[in-house]
Amino acid sequence: MHKPPVTVGADLTLSEAAHALDEHKVGAAAVLDSDGGVRGIVSERDILRSLGQGVDPASTRVSEVMTAHPVTVAADDSVAQALEIFRTRQFRHLPVLENGHVAGILSIRHVVRVAHIEEVKPAGSAPALAPRGLEGVAVAETAVGDVRGEEGFFHYRGYDACELARRCSFEQVWHLLVEGELPDSAQLRDFRGRTVAARSLPGGVDPLLHSLATLPGYSPLGALRTAVSLTGAALQVEPTLDISAVQVRAEALRLASLTPVLLMRLHRYQQGLPAVDPDPDLGYAAAYLQMLTGTRPAETAARALEKYLVLTMDHGFNSSTFTARVITSTGSDIGSALTGAIGALAGPLHGGAPSRALAMLDAIGTPDHAEEYLRDEIGAGHRLMGFGHRVYKTDDPRSTLLREVAAEIGGEQAEFAQFVEATALRVLNELKPGRRLYTNVEFYAGVVMNTVGVPRDMFTPTFACSRTVGWTAAIAEQAASNRLIRPSALYVGPPALRPLPEGYAYA
Ligand code: ACO
Repeated sequence: MHKPPVTVGADLTLSEAAHALDEHKVGAAAVLDSDGGVRGIVSERDILRSLGQGVDPASTRVSEVMTAHPVTVAADDSVAQALEIFRTRQFRHLPVLENGHVAGILSIRHVVRVAHIEEVKPAGSAPALAPRGLEGVAVAETAVGDVRGEEGFFHYRGYDACELARRCSFEQVWHLLVEGELPDSAQLRDFRGRTVAARSLPGGVDPLLHSLATLPGYSPLGALRTAVSLTGAALQVEPTLDISAVQVRAEALRLASLTPVLLMRLHRYQQGLPAVDPDPDLGYAAAYLQMLTGTRPAETAARALEKYLVLTMDHGFNSSTFTARVITSTGSDIGSALTGAIGALAGPLHGGAPSRALAMLDAIGTPDHAEEYLRDEIGAGHRLMGFGHRVYKTDDPRSTLLREVAAEIGGEQAEFAQFVEATALRVLNELKPGRRLYTNVEFYAGVVMNTVGVPRDMFTPTFACSRTVGWTAAIAEQAASNRLIRPSALYVGPPALRPLPEGYAYA
């Protein structure tokens, strides 16, 4: 734990509290009452969340944002007890009490570090079993971003991702994720130049894209996965173990810049159309649509797509990001890590299918059918596409922003979607009370992409392109501070050792 604890007064302003946390390099401080008892705890995330909600840090007091009457642990509680509280209650900091006074602040980081050491069992003993799906288990430290499901927000390097999507270009946020900071204008100019230069295909790849696009059973995401793999080989990317951090980032930028180029070539070849080279004067989002259609997109369409792309660049320690990190942890190259990540994203439980929500709108057809359709679906035990989320038990912030984007670009489908959404939320509330079901990212993602002209089978591949930026940030982070990820499994098969059946022979 952090000992002695950093303490702040309840009437300090958020700016002052943030300064105190920063000065002591801690994530949370105890708020004490006049007798020295714990009145509350205030953390960086409390402050961050309040700023995200638009409060004024110079006039808002700690007492307004802190967690009052926090859960505490005793100094002699075990690491396992603390870990259980972190896991089940989703806290990140806990005050530690000794003789009724705060003796320190325990952070989830302290516990994960110690838990790791505790779980190194003597040879021969069974490893501790993590929860299925690793739910609630922190397996790495990351400074790229985080999802705060209960609070309904996610961030990139501390900045509210929705605010970034509203106010920044794809390249600005890309720079933030891979270089660690938002660029100033000179840095942005240089970064843009590098991403544009990195869009040229390496020799030998184009004819193979042709072949891929004409294979039977073509699927855009499967073809993209293969194309990324072969492009990595053509670029001769090297094992991350053998190259510098600068080279890792250079290779990452090259592949992330090329991903949409590969996807659009595949798409056009599959349609029997000639390739369209990206216009060097266009940014990532506008060039994305220009390569798709062959014409410069309207500013509103490019900006709408750009917001979607920024919103989907990263989303905490999701399965594909984890996959990319596992592959990088072996010292493997970026091409392999990205290929594996696309493979993980291809699963319907992860990459989903934003087109399913659109298919539901099509099936409903007209507003007067909405209520009956939705009631019938739920009555039949089906799930409404675009509603519910494992992590968000409040509005999915991505759906809130994409609803706005859909309304801005307008059109009949956007209006119809809003009507269906309102009806669905009312019906879900009535037929599934207490389940905390809200609109998720898929509902409006499909509407936005459809309206700007992205074909339905390109929805998940489009997601893969933007997520490539998040993957490369995670790959660079893993490579910079690597340890081979090699967990254990609990063996549950027949007791070992078994003798081979009598007389069983080589055949
Ligand atoms: N429509 C109707 N009921 C739902 C829905 C839904 N979309 N989602 C959950 N429920 C109900 C369940 O039927 C269950 O009801 P019950 O208590 O009567 O059995 C209850 O809510 C809890 O369901 P869980 O399965 O525990 O919820 P979970 O958090 O595991 O599910 C999931 C999350 C898979 C996203 C789910 O909400 C779902 O299937 N939604 C529809 C598909 C969809 O939109 N997927 C995209 C998700 S966004 C993304 O992955 C990027």
